[in-house]
Amino acid sequence: MTNDKQRILTGDTPTGKLHLGHYVGSVENRLALQDDYDCYFLIANKHAFTTRADRPAEIRQSVIDIATDYLAAGIDPNKATMFIQSEVPAIDELTFFFAMLVPFNRVMRNPTLKDEIRDKELGENYSFGFPLYAVGQVADILAFRPVMVPVGEDQLPHLELTREIARRFNQMYCGVNPQTQDKDYLKAGALFPIIEPKLGRVRRLVGLGPPGQNGELLKMSKSLNNAIFLSDDADIVQKKVMGMYTDPKRLRVSDPGETDPTRNPLWAFHETFNPDRQWVADQQEAYRNGKVGDVAIKRRLVEILNALLEPIRQRRKQYESRPDDVLDVLKAGTRRANVVAEETLQLAKQSMKQDYFTRKLAIE
Ligand code: TRP
Repeated sequence: MTNDKQRILTGDTPTGKLHLGHYVGSVENRLALQDDYDCYFLIANKHAFTTRADRPAEIRQSVIDIATDYLAAGIDPNKATMFIQSEVPAIDELTFFFAMLVPFNRVMRNPTLKDEIRDKELGENYSFGFPLYAVGQVADILAFRPVMVPVGEDQLPHLELTREIARRFNQMYCGVNPQTQDKDYLKAGALFPIIEPKLGRVRRLVGLGPPGQNGELLKMSKSLNNAIFLSDDADIVQKKVMGMYTDPKRLRVSDPGETDPTRNPLWAFHETFNPDRQWVADQQEAYRNGKVGDVAIKRRLVEILNALLEPIRQRRKQYESRPDDVLDVLKAGTRRANVVAEETLQLAKQSMKQDYFTRKLAIE
């Protein structure tokens, strides 16, 4: 596959199957981008080891599940390159060099790491590899020298670190003047672009459940048990939607404001997935006035979600009956990914004057 399109890269940690939050946060973006960009989708299996090194079989299964989810969702393996992080050694080699370009304290100031330490109750007991993963993610990205990185909001701190390390590398080893504007780095002789994040249409999809302790609805997430998965069948979607939390108190006419989609997941879902804006506006009005109840609105949502998921289910069936095909897709993708990453590593070594030999890498 030769390609003069611009590259983009993004990735997922294989810790479970994809749900609707992933769909609107990033899958949708990827589907839209795969025609116009040379897309690299990394499955970050080593990152999964940061918190579940004791569950390798689960990680392996999840790698296959995520790849299957992407293929089912319509990622076309002839257009986009899906690959396995641990089979691209150039990423690790870059990680080591990049780790020298950032103070340890700076890595630990990353708010996403801090959140993870808190949420997963890691305390002081996280491994050395845990903060290292943030630098590893910088290498995941820069190995591909992409123009853009589509991610969810929680990933922005990692992208900021990527920008910092890229600037530092370019200044230190490529002679780029520190006054250079981010957009002018490549023109100024940089190896690494100063990448731009691209956020999804919906930054944070709420889950099916009631609000958390602070009164706000929680984000959709596997661990909170409030998710609709891309792999859920029609009956499950129906059960989940019909049983989902709504709070009528928050939607009466007496509520002075608009219906607040952050407070009523039913409307958050309609606003996210229902293409008929007029219907949504009209029904919200009726709902506020007590003329229509939850059940009718939920039924319509079931139809909409199942219409979205049905083609995904059909494609999934094809892949589930041929599991080796998924691995073949990953193998072909990993080969292509290595071509790019090896080239980047060689160029980086040249910049750092550590280009003693050349080598060829082969995935068998
Ligand atoms: N940390 C990301 C997540 O958990 C996954 C990831 C790994 C990633 N490497 C990446 C995302 C590179 C974007 C670019 O979702």
